[in-house]
Amino acid sequence: MNPDASTIAAGAPIEVDLSPIAEGQDIKVFWRGKPIYISHRTKKQIDEARAVNVASLPDPQSDEARVKSGHEQWLVVIGICTHLGCIPIAHEGSYDGFFCPCHGSVYDTSGRIRQGPAPSNLPVPPYQFVSDTKIQIG
Ligand code: FES
Repeated sequence: MNPDASTIAAGAPIEVDLSPIAEGQDIKVFWRGKPIYISHRTKKQIDEARAVNVASLPDPQSDEARVKSGHEQWLVVIGICTHLGCIPIAHEGSYDGFFCPCHGSVYDTSGRIRQGPAPSNLPVPPYQFVSDTKIQIG
C-alpha cells in the first residue's frame, strides 16, 4: 500500500526510480514539501567536483562526503538556496551546478556554494540506495 498524499506531505519517505534519468540530466522531486534535485553527474562533473581544493571553499566539504560511496554519479540535494530560500536552477552558473537568480549564488556540481551571498552548501537530505537504481529519501 502506498502512503496517501497527506502522509507524504507530513514526511513519509519517498522512493525514486533513477533509471530514467540520463547521464547529465537532473530531475526534481518533492519530499516534505521541499524540492529535491537528483543529478546524474557525468564523469567530467564528478572530476571537477573532486579537483577542488576543499580548504578554499566557503563551506568546506569534500565531494566524497556529499554522495554515497559506489554511487558517485548521483548527487541528491535539497534545492533551496541557503541564502534566502529561492529555488536555484540546475545546470546554470559558472560551475555547471546550480544558480540562484535571486541574488546570484552559484553552486558547483557537488551543490557546494562557490560564489554569491549564500553562506552554505545545498543540504543533502537523508537518503539511501535500496537498489542500484532506486533511492529512498527520508
Ligand atoms: S536566495 Fe539565493 S542568492 Fe539570495
